[in-house]
This record gives sequence, structure tokens and C-alpha cells, in this order.
Amino acid sequence: MTTPATLDAFFPGQLWPDNNGVHINAHGGGILLHAGTYYWFGEHKIEGSAGNAAHVGVHCYSSTDLYNWKDDGIVLRVSDDPASDIAKGNIIERPKVIYNTATKKFVMWFHLEFSGKKYSAARTATAISDSPTGPYTFLQSFRPNAGHWPVNVAEDSKKILSPEEAAAIATLHLPGGPIPDYPTDILYRRDFAGGQMSRDMTLFVDEDGVGYHIHASEDNGVLHISQLSPDFTTTSGKYARFFPGRFHEAPALFKRENKYYLLSSGCTGWDPNEARSAVADSIWGPWTELGNPCIGPGAEVTFGGQATHVLPVANVPDAFIFLADQWRPKNAIDGRYLWLPIEFDNDKPRIEFLNSWDLDYFTDR
Ligand code: GAL
Repeated sequence: MTTPATLDAFFPGQLWPDNNGVHINAHGGGILLHAGTYYWFGEHKIEGSAGNAAHVGVHCYSSTDLYNWKDDGIVLRVSDDPASDIAKGNIIERPKVIYNTATKKFVMWFHLEFSGKKYSAARTATAISDSPTGPYTFLQSFRPNAGHWPVNVAEDSKKILSPEEAAAIATLHLPGGPIPDYPTDILYRRDFAGGQMSRDMTLFVDEDGVGYHIHASEDNGVLHISQLSPDFTTTSGKYARFFPGRFHEAPALFKRENKYYLLSSGCTGWDPNEARSAVADSIWGPWTELGNPCIGPGAEVTFGGQATHVLPVANVPDAFIFLADQWRPKNAIDGRYLWLPIEFDNDKPRIEFLNSWDLDYFTDR
């Protein structure tokens, strides 16, 4: 095999060859920087529309320059046991890995759905490893925060549904996307006992070492932010609800100059829509929406992409990269990656499409 050429730039939306010359297969991904190496975790997809489900597992690649990625293989493999939560054919989406400095474990979280049940399970799931490149051992899947009330609702709202309320919402068709009569302030009460729904998700570790799980909940209509347990393997029971009725998906959270930023999307399945941004002084809010961060041709559909992660570049001041997926649901393996630099205008994020760019962008500006 001939050695593929070394890359020295990003080419958003183009095929991205790994060290074997094969298009990187790590969709809905996230990146962990550990001991000077970047690790990219994502959904391994196969050809055709079957590739939208998990037939292989979570793929990992590593890099020290962000352009050239070495294939480190499948680090969490689907199970051949149909009774397993991670059985082949289930849905494993948006895997993210964080490192716990106290336990020295790498902890993976991902969105899990069961084969043939569409997106109704709405569960989050965890796996753990001693090494960034695995193998990861599956721990459990669950709906977070069962038996806990959100910290930002009124005391008199902390009550399970009355039979009348349950009957009223039982007749609503909640397809997972915006509906005019979406019941903005009730579904977390419905889900109190069994745990809160958890679909599109990301993780964030703050400078004080506290970890957070950020996820689309309440039939996608409300974003929840949950504090993780100190070992990062479960949620702590402390959580808050944000943007009720706004249907934020594809969350990516980062911190810049002591402010927290959220980049996200609307809720239109695999079809791209307008990106969103929001800012807060505390991760517990209040969060203020700042609108679409994208500008220029294609900005109204995030240049064909949907957010998955924001990567702070190591050792480069104020350098943040927006990572998005251009999904190809009819041939999932052909999905493309859209990596673009984030600029800030008076603290409002701005993203423009570039055909190619490199990290000098951040130092030359
Ligand atoms: C998107 C979501 C993807 C996937 C897809 C399925 O909105 O961001 O992760 O779940 O819907 O239709």
C-alpha cells in the first residue's frame, strides 16, 4: 500500500483520508485531548441506509496535528448477543469520551436506542477504559436523573402528574420535533420516576474538574444539563432545564473567557437546519440565545452540517474549532466532516465556510 500524502490543512466537506488512505469513519464525534494527543471518537457507519444504525461500534482515531489521523480501530464493539443493550443493529450515536483525573479512567457516553423501536428508548449509556484507545467496557444504559427534580423549577411544580394531566398529554402526538401544542412545562414531571429522556448529547468538563452531560430531553423540546457523579460514570441527580419548547439538538458546549457557549441545531432529523448559539455566565444559566452563528452562503442550513463538538486548540490562544457532520443518511459511511474556525464579534460566535484552511488561521488573524 502506498503511504497517503501528509495533510497540512482542513478541507471541510471533502473526503478525509486516515493514515491508511481510508475516509475517516467517526461520525457524530467528539475529541479528547490527553497527554498531547487528540483522540477522535465517533460512530462507525457502514454503507447504505443500514449504516444509520450501529453494526460495528465506536471508532477512534488519534492525531497530534489535527490534520493527520491514525486509525486506532473500534474501541467499543457492538454485541452479537441480541439481549445486550449494545446489540448489533441498535442505535449508538454521538459518542463522547472524557478523562477522570481522580480515577484515571476514560469514560465514554453515547445516545442509545433499541433496534425496531425507533427513537423511543431515549437513553444515555456509558462505557469505561484504562486507555484512551480502549477497549471500552460497556457499563449500563439508563434515563438520567430518575427520582430527582430539576434545580430550576418552582417548588410547586415539583409534583408528579395528576391523572387528568396524564390523560391530557397522552392524546398528544409527540413525534420528537416541534409541534404547536408542545406542552412546555410538563414532560419532566411525567418522566420523574423513570428518568429523563436523553437523545442528542455531549459532555463537558469544567476547569474545576466537574463533568456535565448536556442532552435533548422531554421529547427533544427541552435541553437538560446534568452534573455528573465525581467518577463521571453516572449523573449526580443535579440537573436543570433550558430553552423549553425550543427543540435544540446537536449540543456542543465550550468555555471562553469565563463564559459558557452552546452551539446547537434545530430538530429536523438528518436534514440540515439553521445552527443556534447561546451564552451564559454560569453553566446553570440563565442562558441567552444569540441566534445563528453562521454567515454567508449556506448559513441558513449550517453549510449542510449539524454541530457535534467544539474543540479548543491546545496551546493556541482563543482558538476554537466548530465540528459538524454533513450526514449522508442514504449512504451513511459517506458522511462528511465540517471543521471551521469560530470567530467572536462582541462575544457572539461567528462561523464562515472555508473551502480549506489551516491552524495558522488563528495566529495570522
Ligand atoms: C438528528 C440527530 C442525529 C440523529 C438523527 C436521526 O437530528 O442529531 O444524531 O439522531 O437526527 O434522525
